[in-house]
Amino acid sequence: MRKEIEQLAEEVITRCRKLATFSEDSGSLRRTFLSPPMHEVHREITTWLEPLGTELQIDAAGNLRARYAGREPAAPRLLIGSHLDTVPNAGAFDGMLGVVLPIALLEGLDGRRLPYVIEVVGFSDEEGVRFGTPFLGSCALVGRFGESLLAMQDSHGIPVRKAIQDFGLNPAKIADAVLGDDVCAYLEFHIEQGPVLESLGLPLGVVESVAGQSRLEFTFVGRANHAGTTPMNLRIDAIAGAAEWIETVERVAKAIPGLVATVGSLQAKPGAVNVIAGEAQLTLDVRHSADDMRARTVEDLIRGAQAIARGRGLSVCWKERLNQCAVSMDRNLITQVEEAIRKTGSKPHRMASGAGHDAMILAEKVPAGIVFLRTPGGISHDPAESVLVDDVAKAIECGLHLLDQFAVSPAFQKRTCRA
Ligand code: GLV
Ligand code: MN
Ligand code: MN
Repeated sequence: MRKEIEQLAEEVITRCRKLATFSEDSGSLRRTFLSPPMHEVHREITTWLEPLGTELQIDAAGNLRARYAGREPAAPRLLIGSHLDTVPNAGAFDGMLGVVLPIALLEGLDGRRLPYVIEVVGFSDEEGVRFGTPFLGSCALVGRFGESLLAMQDSHGIPVRKAIQDFGLNPAKIADAVLGDDVCAYLEFHIEQGPVLESLGLPLGVVESVAGQSRLEFTFVGRANHAGTTPMNLRIDAIAGAAEWIETVERVAKAIPGLVATVGSLQAKPGAVNVIAGEAQLTLDVRHSADDMRARTVEDLIRGAQAIARGRGLSVCWKERLNQCAVSMDRNLITQVEEAIRKTGSKPHRMASGAGHDAMILAEKVPAGIVFLRTPGGISHDPAESVLVDDVAKAIECGLHLLDQFAVSPAFQKRTCRA
C-alpha cells in the first residue's frame, strides 16, 4: 500500500538518524572513506532497498549503487544520490539525506516503472577527511580515479588502494564504476548547510552553481626546544609562524568579496606544553565562484607563508590536495526543478552553493542538478544539523513531480553521458 508522503518524510529522518549511529568514534559521528562502519551503513540501506525490487552492488570505489529497472531493458538511466561519508563530529543529514530520500521516492512510486532506470547512489567519499582530497566516490564514476589517487595515503600511511582492498573490494576494477553513455542525468537532494532559505522562509531551493575550491596542506618547520630555557629572541617557533599566517589568511579573505578561506586544522609537533613546536601542519580551504580570483588568492597566501617563514627563520612547504573549478548546474534541470517546486505550492529560489557536492563532479559527464532543503539555523558539519519534517515532505513531493516530468520529456531521456 502506498505510504503517505508525511509518513515517508518521517521515515527519511528516522533512517538518516539510524545511519548516524554507525560511526568510527563512540559518542559522535565520524565515517570516513571505507572505514568499517561503512559496511554497517551498506547493510542497513540494503534492507531498505531490496524489498523495492532494486539490484544492488558496491562498486570498486565503495559506492553503493542500486538499480530500479525502467519499463524497457534499454531505458536511459537517471542517477539520484549523495554521499555516505561524514566529517568528524558530524550531523545526520549532510549527504545521508540525499541517499535516503531517493529510496522514499522509489517507495512513493509503489512499484510503478518509468521510461527510465533510476539508480540510487551512495558515494563513499565526498568530504575528503581521510585522504585530504574529496570526491573519491564520484571521481570513480567520471573516470578520474587514476593511479595518483590510488597511491594517496591517509595519516597512518595507508594508501587508497589498500583501503579499498581492506574493505573487501578490488582496486583493479575501478574502471568498471565509470558511467556508461546510457546515463541521462544526475540529481542530488542536499541540505543547504547555510541560512539563506531559512531567512527567506522557503523550504526548497535550486542550485545554479557550485563554488570552486582549493585545498592545500602547509608545514612550517622550525626548531623544537625547551620552553623554559630558550629566550624569546632565540626561538624558531613553528607554531608562532603558523599563527601569524592564519591571521594573514583571515585578513586577505575578508578583503575579497565572496571569498572564504579557512584553516580548519592545525597540528603542532611534538605537541607538549613545555616544548617549542618544531613543526606545525595546517590545512587551507579557499572557495570562490570565480576560479581566477580563487587561484590568485591561493598564490598570494602561499607567498605570504613564504615571507612569514623567511622573516622567522622557518622553512615552509605545501602540497595541493584539490583544485576544483566552479561548476554550473544544468539549465534544463534547473527549470525542471523550479517547476516541480512550484507544484508543491512553494516558491523556488535559485542560489549558489558554497559547499562542494558530488553533483559538481558528475556535471563533467552528465547534466546535473541539486535541490536544496532549508537547514534550521543554517547549522551543518555539527551534531546540531537538522531538517524539518515538512520540508522533507516537500522535497519528496518535489522529487515525485520531477520523476513524472522526466517521464514525459523525451528530450530529457535522450540526453546522454559525455563518456
Ligand atoms: C563539503 O561538505 C564541503 O566541504 O564543501
Ligand atoms: Mn559536508
Ligand atoms: Mn555534503
